[in-house]
Amino acid sequence: MNLKGRDFLTLKDFTKEEIIYLLDLAAEYKQKKKKGVLHDTLRGKNVALIFEKTSTRTRCAFEVAANDLGMGSTYLDPGASQIGKKESIADTAQVLCRMFDGIEYRGYGQEIVEELAKYSTVPVWNGLTNEYHPTQMLADMLTIREHFKKLEGLKLVYLGDARYNTGNSLMVVCSKLGLHFTACAPKEYFPNAKLVAQCEEYCEESKGTITLTEKITAACKGADIICTDVWVSMGEPDEVWEKRINDLSPYKVTTEIMNLASPNAIFLHCLPSFHDLNTEIGKTIAEKYGLTEMEVSDEVFKSKASLVFDEAENRMHTIKAVMAATLGAV
Ligand code: CP
Ligand code: NVA
Repeated sequence: MNLKGRDFLTLKDFTKEEIIYLLDLAAEYKQKKKKGVLHDTLRGKNVALIFEKTSTRTRCAFEVAANDLGMGSTYLDPGASQIGKKESIADTAQVLCRMFDGIEYRGYGQEIVEELAKYSTVPVWNGLTNEYHPTQMLADMLTIREHFKKLEGLKLVYLGDARYNTGNSLMVVCSKLGLHFTACAPKEYFPNAKLVAQCEEYCEESKGTITLTEKITAACKGADIICTDVWVSMGEPDEVWEKRINDLSPYKVTTEIMNLASPNAIFLHCLPSFHDLNTEIGKTIAEKYGLTEMEVSDEVFKSKASLVFDEAENRMHTIKAVMAATLGAV
């Protein structure tokens, strides 16, 4: 398997074998890290980390992973560079690839990260766009595989806004790897028809399936993995909160929902999550709309079934695998 020089923009661009290879490599790096075995085989290289939206996990994962691989990293925060305002994406790409060996981009439209990749001569990694969050998917699949010891044939149900990065990307990765994906939401929150059709083609090969439904009980019955995400994503205007709360409240992940799932079922959330009032936004929403929790109950979030912190840790191991493979460390 040789992924050297490849961009990592969406998992649509990767085969099942390539995705499994990245998961295996991540598992290997995870073991090395736990055992204290150094793996700084990319000494002398440098990566640029562009964040036009905020981050805790993705930024830290890229920085720690780069450091573990022996690389330097430069963080460009939202607002602290010329990107987009004084300098085009095309020019930025051509400047950065003269200095760096790889470029991570987190921001808005998928077309931006694609433009960056078009003009860059070094690998570009998508650290989240409005449409896709591919590094998150590797972490999710690694977490699922660690728990169930397999991926194929498992039933994953995503409740909430399935039109956005997390919902779209879960549908892509499940259909590539042969999981049964269900998006459970009001119809207007289903992923777009073109992407669904594309994923249905992947399913023909992988034997996965895609179900889009509004019916919660039928969807969650026997599920192996229950997933959700915030109801309002970064970059969306505050005005959308009221409608989202009204539309998506029935799809909140509660203990009743987890009880419909299989006895060994797990709960995943990419994080950050509004499961209590210990956040500024959580408090504001509570004052305005009277909700004390949003997409997931505090009870489920803190339950034994919740593997959200393993999932968060796995961001680092999987991002390390993506950088190592595309920079030719393996
Ligand atoms: N899950 C995730 O991407 O988290 P951050 O926004 O903190 O990077
Ligand atoms: N859908 C969320 C994911 C955060 C990691 C967002 O885009 O804000």
